[in-house]
Amino acid sequence: MKIIKVKNYDELSIEASKIVANLLKQKEDACLGLATGGTPIGMYQNLIKMYRDGEISFRNIKTYNLDEYCDLDQNHSQSYYSYMHEHLFNNIDISKDNIHIPEGNSGNNEEACRKFNELLNQSTIDLQVLGIGGNGHIGFNEPGTPFNQETFVVELTDKTRNDNKRFFDSIEEVPRYAITMGIKNIVQAKKILLLASGLGKAEAVARLINGEISEGFPASILKRHDNVIVIIDEEAALLL
Ligand code: PGA
Repeated sequence: MKIIKVKNYDELSIEASKIVANLLKQKEDACLGLATGGTPIGMYQNLIKMYRDGEISFRNIKTYNLDEYCDLDQNHSQSYYSYMHEHLFNNIDISKDNIHIPEGNSGNNEEACRKFNELLNQSTIDLQVLGIGGNGHIGFNEPGTPFNQETFVVELTDKTRNDNKRFFDSIEEVPRYAITMGIKNIVQAKKILLLASGLGKAEAVARLINGEISEGFPASILKRHDNVIVIIDEEAALLL
């Protein structure tokens, strides 16, 4: 893994957006794997600015999102569908037909997983953006998820629901299930960009970089991938 240390969140966002923009400039029909959460918001803001400045275009770009909550209306303010449209898609020239987000509210979650997985297997993701959970999860692959898992319905852990409750009015409102790309899907990406910012990620970052490869810490699988960039800021690097 190539580790890039930067000072703070703003620098992390700039570095990350440059990596995405460089790919878009080289390959105008690139396929991006995208993440939600607090961490990539600054990167998306920079990408929107580059698009508005005429530096990059998303016209022929395809995207696949890592995950989506189950049983939450896609137009709910906290669905990942809403997040992606608010923070990126509504502000760029992407074709709606090229956006792929698991359908968490179709009424048939198993079928939604099968469909999403089939689409993933028909494409090759050039660059997958990832955050990391405090417990080492990537996407919603919680500790203990087999490394050979493909897209599936996951029951969210208490830790993950608690981490995400800041976005909802109460813990009861945080969905209990989600559809997520599996670890096998994630590591099929040609290149992976993992972003970690802030003290809350310091332990997870130290374990990712210094710990063993184990299904108990899902992000550790990235050590077996030969094209991973990890961008961390000073706070996230505190325990290294
Ligand atoms: P965050 O989430 O970017 O909101 O910290 C990352 C994750 O849980 O994967």
